[in-house]
Amino acid sequence: MKTLILKAFEDGSAIKKGAEIIASGGLVAFPTETVYGLGANGLDPNAAKKIYAAKGRPSDNPLILHICRLSELSELAEEIPEAAIKLAQRFWPGPLTMIFKKKPIVPDAVTGGLDTVAVRMPDHPVAKELIMLSGCPIAAPSANISGRPSPVTAEHVAEDLEGKVDLILDGGKCSVGIESTIVDVTEDIPVILRPGHITLKDLEDVLGEVRIDPAVSGIMSDKDRCSPEETHEHGDAVPRAPGMKYTHYAPKGELLIISGSREKVRDYIKKSVSSLKERGVRTWVIASEETRSFYPEENVLVMGSLTDISSMEKELFKTLRYLDQENAEVIFSESFYTDENAMGLMNRMLKAAGHRIINADEEGEYKC
Ligand code: TXA
Ligand code: MG
Repeated sequence: MKTLILKAFEDGSAIKKGAEIIASGGLVAFPTETVYGLGANGLDPNAAKKIYAAKGRPSDNPLILHICRLSELSELAEEIPEAAIKLAQRFWPGPLTMIFKKKPIVPDAVTGGLDTVAVRMPDHPVAKELIMLSGCPIAAPSANISGRPSPVTAEHVAEDLEGKVDLILDGGKCSVGIESTIVDVTEDIPVILRPGHITLKDLEDVLGEVRIDPAVSGIMSDKDRCSPEETHEHGDAVPRAPGMKYTHYAPKGELLIISGSREKVRDYIKKSVSSLKERGVRTWVIASEETRSFYPEENVLVMGSLTDISSMEKELFKTLRYLDQENAEVIFSESFYTDENAMGLMNRMLKAAGHRIINADEEGEYKC
């Protein structure tokens, strides 16, 4: 298949072309404020199946339906609880996905056979217009090959999906950079199934009590606050968002998260980098603006500032993709867990690291 790539803001007919492709059952990758989505008509089972094939995605991993008006929600959701209305008023359009009981019109091919459906109203001019002109909800997972870091530029999408989709709409770099927060509103007390840019605190401010799926909770209590090694997906609990159980984002090299007191983390990484370099191993360090100067300049990738977690979220997936381009063999990242706001970021980083966390207070240097 030949993939057309069009600049959505410069080419006046690009989005219209995208809408025609969606309406006729094809695949269009498009920008949202979180990450790029791989879109198809969300009410057409055959179109949805094409998404799974293009991504190499397991068919039990359901898709999010993207809408552009609140009135469309009642066409898809059997019940719209009070909590959902409050969250929609506060956060839509925006990086929040909610899980509802589904109406029969939503195909099983979209929900992986579940009786619930995930719905989001994205906050991006290209996404909004594409959904409006298509005249249907757009089913869209992140536009990457399954397991790879989510794409935040059209170039990332092309790396993974050129030749597998009809059109890529290039709308520049995504402003948020990690995928939406997912909240199940079918329970009396809503449950976070995937942490994201919208934090637990943001949700609690609107709803009062909110729970978090124990399988993805990571660091939650004050006790855990300075112990990022506690961020394992807990025990044997199975995540309730099917996609959360799969390996994700992992770079080809070995990524390790180094936790512990600041000074020990710094010493551990410095020592390890210098001995690996001596042996000719391609080694990188993921650090912050505040800590970059501790490490050899030629080995450091700066994700952003510790005082602004959003700046790090924005750079995360680009950084992970860059490491592969550079054939990085061993990558050390400081743990950026400062408080609960960093939960979305650290959830992605821990997945990328396959939960390999080293406590620098206990270990002195990397041993391979
Ligand atoms: O920001 C985002 O959410 C991006 C953009 C494109 O909107 N989309 C995205 O989709 O991240 P995807 O498919 O990569 O992740 C969707 C997650 C998966 O973990 C999936 O298992 C979960 O949502 N999900 C979808 N429907 C669900 C349902 N009915 N119940 C529980 N989890 C569901
Ligand atoms: Mg994804």
